[in-house]
Amino acid sequence: MSDSEAEALARRFPAGFVWGVSTSAYQIEGAVAIDGRGPSIWDDFCRRQGVIADGSSGETACDHYHLFESDLDLMQALGIPAYRFSIAWPRVRPDGRKGINEPGLAFYDRLVDGLLTRGIQPLATLYHWDLPAPLQNESGGWADRGTADAFADYAGVMAARLGDRVKTFTTQNEPWVTATLGHEAGIFAPGIRSRATAMQVSHHCLLSHGLAAQAVRAARADASVGIALNLSPVSPASDTPEDIAQARIDDGLLVRWYLDALLLGSYPADVLAHLGPDAPRTSPDDARLIAQPLDFLGINFYNPMFSSATRRWIPARPGAPVTAMGWEVSPRDLTRLLLRLHHDYRLPPLHIAENGAAYDDRLLDGEVQDEPRRVYLESHLHAVADAIAQGVDLRGYFVWSLLDNFEWSHGYAKRFGIVRVDYDTLERRPKRSARWYSRLLHAVASLDPAAANVAGKPHR
Ligand code: FCB
Repeated sequence: MSDSEAEALARRFPAGFVWGVSTSAYQIEGAVAIDGRGPSIWDDFCRRQGVIADGSSGETACDHYHLFESDLDLMQALGIPAYRFSIAWPRVRPDGRKGINEPGLAFYDRLVDGLLTRGIQPLATLYHWDLPAPLQNESGGWADRGTADAFADYAGVMAARLGDRVKTFTTQNEPWVTATLGHEAGIFAPGIRSRATAMQVSHHCLLSHGLAAQAVRAARADASVGIALNLSPVSPASDTPEDIAQARIDDGLLVRWYLDALLLGSYPADVLAHLGPDAPRTSPDDARLIAQPLDFLGINFYNPMFSSATRRWIPARPGAPVTAMGWEVSPRDLTRLLLRLHHDYRLPPLHIAENGAAYDDRLLDGEVQDEPRRVYLESHLHAVADAIAQGVDLRGYFVWSLLDNFEWSHGYAKRFGIVRVDYDTLERRPKRSARWYSRLLHAVASLDPAAANVAGKPHR
């Protein structure tokens, strides 16, 4: 990208727009049994035969726990203004319920301080799927209502301890994934297969969000609180009435279930009717608790989805361009989604909290050539800018991900990073996409110095 192209793209975004990268604790930290961290459901799940494609786990991952200072140096060198990371609940509260494991919390203190001294804005996600194992083993995890209370308590404690420096808290990351992949499909931790359990879990995750939002605000009145949802439009795979009906329900389960509960204070009637006896048990006050005011809504977008009467959650149309995950590349669907949400709901300000792509990167002349990733990111940024131009209040964008990392059931085979990680040496090497993003951020900073980073540090 030439400097003038970078500037043209940068100009499509409003002043004050937040630019960043995203990661999550279990996917990068490693150090799973150090400084008092307790096991999470992902540590347990990874030990099952055949559930992770390459038989791996997050035991070492990128060893970010030990290498975070140099990772932060790298972010600063790239000129990244904001960093969305997640806090490992089992690191700060190994039993899930009480007390604080001070050495675990100290890691996040160091991380946050390290970000701030480098002028990088920290945004903390409180739950990115690594539930403390005792909560699962002793009381059934998210299927148990008590887990929502335990989460809110932990959230309040984290806001009290970090809220002087962290101003933005995301409660839950992608509750649909926790519920559906973890408890219905059983391909993510904790590996349960029951639709009724999955729907109960989704309700408890939403409830936990509402309770945590209250707890964070009670601890820090100035905190900004939101949730991150994986939202994709779900379209029928064909125009048969059966496929249209299934896609309507699946869109209801993925998009409307969460947004109606959060923004309208009720679950969609057609989805409830479809679920019948699998609909969750709720208490009278739950709807109000879930629909707490949101300071922002994080949207994680990768690809559109399709459903038919015989096959659901299809990630690509036949013949469409796909990433290494087999996920369709369709930036127009991101614009379409944003405009639809803008039309259907009274939305809080939006962030794209995750967007990115896995590709089989090629090493050429010592450089990681990942042109497809750069094209993916650039086209999705244009898609975001198109939505902003049509009136959507979208205020931030975070690339998934800073580093190649542990991609859940795919293990280490799928690489989403703009920085390559050599898993033998743990060496980091910025890919061409990182250099491209850096150039763009440089252009942003020269147009809007206030957005450069909160401490106004020079880029490079
Ligand atoms: C999202 C997850 C994130 C990562 C990307 C590829 O669903 O939030 O952890 O795995 O997908």
